[in-house]
Amino acid sequence: MLPQETIRRKRDRLALSPEEIAAFVAGVTDGSVSEGQVAAFAMAVWFNGMGRDETVALTRAMRDSGEVLAWPELDRPVADKHSTGGVGDNVSLMLAPVAAACGLAVPMISGRGLGHTGGTLDKLDSIPGYTTAPSEALFRRVVKNVGCAVIGQTAELAPADRRIYAIRDVTATVESVPLITASILSKKLAAGLSSLALDVKVGNGAFMTDPGEAVTLARSLVEVANGAGVKTSALITDMNEPLADAAGNAVEVANCIAFLKGGKAGTRLETLVIALAAEMLVLSGLETDHTAAEAKARQALASGEAAEVFARMVATLGGPADLLERPEAYLAKAPVIRPVTATESGYLSACDTRGVGLAVIELGGGRTRPDQTIDHRVGLDRLLPLGTKVEKGAEIGRVHAASDDAAQAAAARLAALYRIAPEPPANRPDILTRIS
Ligand code: URA
Repeated sequence: MLPQETIRRKRDRLALSPEEIAAFVAGVTDGSVSEGQVAAFAMAVWFNGMGRDETVALTRAMRDSGEVLAWPELDRPVADKHSTGGVGDNVSLMLAPVAAACGLAVPMISGRGLGHTGGTLDKLDSIPGYTTAPSEALFRRVVKNVGCAVIGQTAELAPADRRIYAIRDVTATVESVPLITASILSKKLAAGLSSLALDVKVGNGAFMTDPGEAVTLARSLVEVANGAGVKTSALITDMNEPLADAAGNAVEVANCIAFLKGGKAGTRLETLVIALAAEMLVLSGLETDHTAAEAKARQALASGEAAEVFARMVATLGGPADLLERPEAYLAKAPVIRPVTATESGYLSACDTRGVGLAVIELGGGRTRPDQTIDHRVGLDRLLPLGTKVEKGAEIGRVHAASDDAAQAAAARLAALYRIAPEPPANRPDILTRIS
């Protein structure tokens, strides 16, 4: 089937057969389907959706566009987590070492920034020397000897997703249940996992802004993954403000290091890292009870074991051996750091979180074209959580920028993205529900 015929059929709301989906994905992989055709296909799916059978066929075709890994050499369960994407969502960086310290093997294949959200891979690229594209032999060695390796999609792993993902990123075709399902699961199924915990974000900084849509996405992910033989559950979690107190690349790595050294206890970020680690431990069968699993994850953090695993992973993948001791010596700093100040006195009561993500892109920390290089130094940090009482003119966060002009524009933009009210906002749960 010609690619334009497949696009036309999807445009006209017809169900695509597994064979034509496989042929289209093969063309994406070998380059015979053009960038414009991928964009048109993605937009047709965005508008008209896909049935469950089509989503399964797309996921399978994308998984099989490259190598599918197996881990016969490992004597522990192979597990992972994936987030549907948020702002200040650096959970993967801490969760992989926590889970590894608790006895799991975590071969984590991560992505670059997508739409207004940040990507784990872009964050890791701010660590000098760290390779997010190791040889398969090195990847296997790190997973076996350290317990986790957070890397990018290799050329061999779900290459169709790599191409489609980069095009969706810049064509407003991200927020689609079948496209997100196939994108996430093609990579995860190709990684040879036995279990997968999903973090499905909902809120004004997520791709799904409505809880009903988030549940639909979570069900799609959980059903397709379990159907493919990977034990999977999803937590639906709040994304109505940045998760970490930083958003960007180097700033989120710095935040991760502070977290692993015990500096972010009691935050929403900690709640999520522990809950997702517990989810991974229970799904994999290493623990039977969520409370015991959470205690184990907390212990891995408190004992410093998770920090130790992170340090070994960074060093083995080519990064500095003393990154945890001296992050400031290695993480590049932006030339201008400027405070964002409260426009009035009161409580921080709401945040336009998508706007925060877009502000990071405007600073140069994300892409507007698939081939663009990004500035790892820029971003935001010391962001105060919603509910904080502030005085007019007080610092509510900081901008890291490449120039004075960019810093000034971003600081003004950021200040306007926060609403300040006389009363504190109602409490929001960090975790809304669990889908299994
Ligand atoms: N993460 C992915 O890997 N793909 C998506 O489409 C969305 C989030």
